Amino acid sequence: MICLAVPVTCRNDAERALIRAQGRCDIVELRIDHAAEPGEWLEAVVGGRTLPAIVTDRCPAEGGRSPRTQAERLDLLARAAAAGAEYIDCEYRALAELPVIPAATRVIGSYHDFKGCPDDLDRIFRSIEKSRADVVKVAVQAVRNGDNFRLFKAMRKVKKPVIGICMGPKGEMTRILGRRYGNILTYAADDDGTGTAPGQVTVRELREVYRYKSITPATRVFGVAGNPIGHSASPAIHNAAMEALGIDAVYVKFLVDDMHAFMRAFRAAGFEGLSVTLPHKVALMECVDEVDELSRQAGAANTVFRKGKKLACTNTDIRAAVDRLADLAGGLTGKRVAVLGAGGAARGIVYGLRQGGADILIVNRTVSRAEELAATMGCRACGYPAFTGDGIDIVVNTTSVGMHPDIDASPVEAGVLRPGMIVFDAIYNPPDTKLIRMARDRGCRTLTGVDMFLAQGEEQFRIWFGRPAPQGVMAGAFARR
Ligand code: ATR
Repeated sequence: MICLAVPVTCRNDAERALIRAQGRCDIVELRIDHAAEPGEWLEAVVGGRTLPAIVTDRCPAEGGRSPRTQAERLDLLARAAAAGAEYIDCEYRALAELPVIPAATRVIGSYHDFKGCPDDLDRIFRSIEKSRADVVKVAVQAVRNGDNFRLFKAMRKVKKPVIGICMGPKGEMTRILGRRYGNILTYAADDDGTGTAPGQVTVRELREVYRYKSITPATRVFGVAGNPIGHSASPAIHNAAMEALGIDAVYVKFLVDDMHAFMRAFRAAGFEGLSVTLPHKVALMECVDEVDELSRQAGAANTVFRKGKKLACTNTDIRAAVDRLADLAGGLTGKRVAVLGAGGAARGIVYGLRQGGADILIVNRTVSRAEELAATMGCRACGYPAFTGDGIDIVVNTTSVGMHPDIDASPVEAGVLRPGMIVFDAIYNPPDTKLIRMARDRGCRTLTGVDMFLAQGEEQFRIWFGRPAPQGVMAGAFARR
């Protein structure tokens, strides 16, 4: 079930939430601890509800705002139950004091820790299970990535209906994947982001991006690891492609600080594929069993996949760039390519293009750096003043010149761009850089960072599922974001 979690300050809030949730959510949690006098209207709201409801009057000690005594809170819960609420949520330590309530109302016995994830999770789940609770709920703060996996493990042992959540940005994945480990519901924020706890995913995202209700214990798990990761577009494009092909899989975001520890947990959990973004593209190569030559040369990898029992990695940023450039240019053999920049990003693409048979000129501000790279890759080098664009078929920008907020900068002058040239800018923010705009004006064919983001995603999809993502689906999902 998707549960809209609503901080309710007055009767109006509660009634509006019940209406708003209709058709989008299965149940609404009315957090009456945000209200001063809920006793004045609680029974009327519950009696007139148009969706199933959970009534919660959370105490400050467990992260709530209720100004009431325990006795007053329990009395309100009992009244909500008598009015027909499907669920009441009571801190499990207070359960012994809860009066007898109608059998039709189920009691969620809950435990909260907003500071961390306790070592004795198993014991906490067990204590609640042994109490009079009908549903066992544990919500803890994810401090380390491993906390999410510890929670899943502990949840699996519970026989009663269960709700396990890791709160906070590191725990976001439990709000989606928890269903795979038996969660009967997930608490969702409203589409404007209003929720009741840190890390809640919006109703729209749960439904439209993650297809929450189709997740089962058999659903295969993929995702993207990075830090920060909040604005990643990868879940939108990959989930859209999985849905379009009817693949029983889900793709989530992992906010990761320790890549080694995360990869150990990833491996043990049996998750299948991973996109990796900043700052973990280098560390990733130390965490898998097999690193391909392309990643080694680039000094970075961005894709994890399973190869039998082993985990392997590759670099689809480069594979996709080389493939797309080859498509546009009608093959790379003998094509003359100017690569702007001589850093890590340049190294990978130069290697890939050389494998494709291109003839490469490395252009860099620091000429000695260009010369060093050129010597190891068997190509030529020069500085910007010497670069005229003469005879060049393809220009590839690997520098950060033109990236937000410096959007009016370009690594080269318009004069070096010629009609018919192919110009690829690896920068995706903004999507149309000054270089790309100049290239279009000069009659060049262009590949933007966004084109490449989609192409590397399609390449990942093909690696994971052995078939292409349906034409246009990822681009459509990206555009709708
Ligand atoms: P990355 O791994 O992303 O390639 P890097 O190794 O720091 O990062 O390389 C950055 C590249 O962008 C270098 O080629 C750098 O040129 P220098 O080697 O001369 O430093 C280039 N670059 C960064 N800022 C630049 C600028 N303002 N003008 C021209 N080139 C620039």
